[in-house]
Amino acid sequence: MQTYKVAVLAGDGIGPEVMVEAIKVLDRVQAQFGFQLEFTEARVGGIAIDVDGRALPESTLKTCEAAEAILFGSVGGPKWESLPPNEQPERAALLPLRKHFQLFANLRPAICYPNLTHASPVKESLIPGGFDVLCVRELTGGLYFGQPKGTHMENGEAVAIDTMVYKQSEIERIAHIAFAAAAQRSGKVTSIDKANVLENGVLWRKTVTEISKQYPTVQLNHLYVDNAAMQLVRNPRGFDVILAENLFGDILSDEMAMITGSLGMLPSASLGTRELANGRFGLFEPSGGTAPDIAGKGIANPIAQILSAAMMLRYAFGQSAAADKIELAVRQAIDRGYRTGDIWSEGCSRVGTREMGDAVVSELGN
Ligand code: IPM
Ligand code: MN
Repeated sequence: MQTYKVAVLAGDGIGPEVMVEAIKVLDRVQAQFGFQLEFTEARVGGIAIDVDGRALPESTLKTCEAAEAILFGSVGGPKWESLPPNEQPERAALLPLRKHFQLFANLRPAICYPNLTHASPVKESLIPGGFDVLCVRELTGGLYFGQPKGTHMENGEAVAIDTMVYKQSEIERIAHIAFAAAAQRSGKVTSIDKANVLENGVLWRKTVTEISKQYPTVQLNHLYVDNAAMQLVRNPRGFDVILAENLFGDILSDEMAMITGSLGMLPSASLGTRELANGRFGLFEPSGGTAPDIAGKGIANPIAQILSAAMMLRYAFGQSAAADKIELAVRQAIDRGYRTGDIWSEGCSRVGTREMGDAVVSELGN
């Protein structure tokens, strides 16, 4: 039987409780589709700071290296917010993981389901039937990692430097990911840059245009990032795949998440350079954070974690049918009226984390 090794890093806040539901769903589909997932748990984030003295312990990194995918919960919380920025769970765990495994391709689907349009802050009249936009964000370049970086004194005052750097090859590989994704969807890529001001933007636009010639079925257009931020709230249905560099993608993907109206529903995949038999090594995590205010109460929405597990099956292991089945089960559970507090509306059944997980498992059948 096909076996896949998965490092399970539940982390802090609601991470552990929503992870339980994702594993439950995975357990059901592996039986149905005849593959086997081998889970190894490891500590990350605040809990790792408390127990091991650092957010990303060496032993956790080893567990991830021995695995073919990382299923990630969330990290951080008020307890660790007063630590120096470089030691905080978000920065000290996520950024090194991205760099270490060269997780250059961040896929963030922003789906507003037809019967959840009321939760969106965008007027319902602008989003009839909801929308489905995929953000493809470059994740290991640009201002996040460019050198030189640092703060020094100059003429008696502090000066901070961050550097935006992109090599043509880095733009090419992320562009391929975006075009390949669009070819499987509605066939449209909107590439984001600031070519009117930045050298990086000029190279970005030129390189993306060049790569687009290899994808004749995909239509390409370009938007400056400031304009894109406007168009997204004006007409989200005008987008299919958004391709952006690291910082622009960070900002726009939060905007996209917000306009779906349900942060607790959004998964993500960060894919690396290591190729597997039928996919790529990657880290799969919900887009929302640790939600410390509701952690431990059993009321968090587990759907983002469940859908992240589905992305893992699709992008790391090539188990698309199993991934499709999970995504369908989630839609059906919603259609049946199951809602956690974050997406609840009049007339629906308000359920907790475990009941929502059970509802999805029950849609999967035996
Ligand atoms: C994200 C987060 C991270 C980022 C932070 C926590 C470093 O905002 O994954 O979008 O900026 O990439
Ligand atoms: Mn972000």
